[in-house]
Amino acid sequence: MSKPQETAVYTHGHHESVLRSHTWRTAANSAAYLLGSLKPHMKILDIGCGPGTITADLAALVPDGHVTGVDHAPGILDQARATAAERGLANVDFAVADVHALDYPDDTFCAVHAHQVLQHVGDPVQALREMRRVTKPGGLIAVRDSDYAAMTWYPASRGMDDWADLYHRVARANGGEPDAGRRLKSWALRAGLTDITATSGTWTFSTAEERAWWSGLWADRTVASAYAERATQGGHATAEQLTAVSEAWREWGRREDGWFSVLHGEILCRKDA
Ligand SMILES: C[S@@+](CC[C@H](N)C(=O)[O-])C[C@H]1O[C@@H](n2cnc3c(N)ncnc32)[C@H](O)[C@@H]1O
Repeated sequence: MSKPQETAVYTHGHHESVLRSHTWRTAANSAAYLLGSLKPHMKILDIGCGPGTITADLAALVPDGHVTGVDHAPGILDQARATAAERGLANVDFAVADVHALDYPDDTFCAVHAHQVLQHVGDPVQALREMRRVTKPGGLIAVRDSDYAAMTWYPASRGMDDWADLYHRVARANGGEPDAGRRLKSWALRAGLTDITATSGTWTFSTAEERAWWSGLWADRTVASAYAERATQGGHATAEQLTAVSEAWREWGRREDGWFSVLHGEILCRKDA
């Protein structure tokens, strides 16, 4: 039987406008639901680690343990290594891996974590089966994904609605599921996990600084990232439509009363001992 492998295309790519968001992420703002369960000696696998800011935070939280960050895109791992080196962390390493077929023996890690990854993969149930397989009996599987249809904002605008519609079409054409947050528990059950704590968490962008940052990175991403290329090459939008969506983001960012909330689904699962 052939080895399971990634069939989806990662929607965002690693353009600077995308990394502006990824490098802002911390264990505190993106993995709070997991932190209370960490112990200093733990051996952790962080899947789809991207530029590694959450990975580095996790390593700092397990000073007597170790964190391995893996990503399907080899190019981003140099940045992840640099992030860890800048922080003087010696208990972290990085490798290329596909979550559908992890190159680790059964029962290896105390905790296996993935933030904003399962929404982008071709078979999230197989991904969770692999995460479960490499987790030690009694260990943790922790997953958090946003849910695009549940994102909400003020004020309403036609351009922002067009953004949400376009994002869904491009992400699904790439083989992903942008409304992953609400599905995590269902996927985990199908992967054979039984001890599942399902919660939700949000990011909110409202101050002038937050609006400028969030709107700016989406405005730029809409016209200058892998997502923009896939949108035009896949026939989902013209360059003019992308420019209009990008301007809608800037317009939202200029609104003093602007407010945006990103809902995430979270699951913290314990593998049977
Ligand atoms: C949205 S980024 C999240 C990065 C990081 N976890 C964070 O939250 O800042 C998703 C990452 O998952 C990686 N990825 C996509 N498909 C993957 C797969 N099949 N196996 C491992 N990583 C994958 C992408 O290359 C990308 O770096």
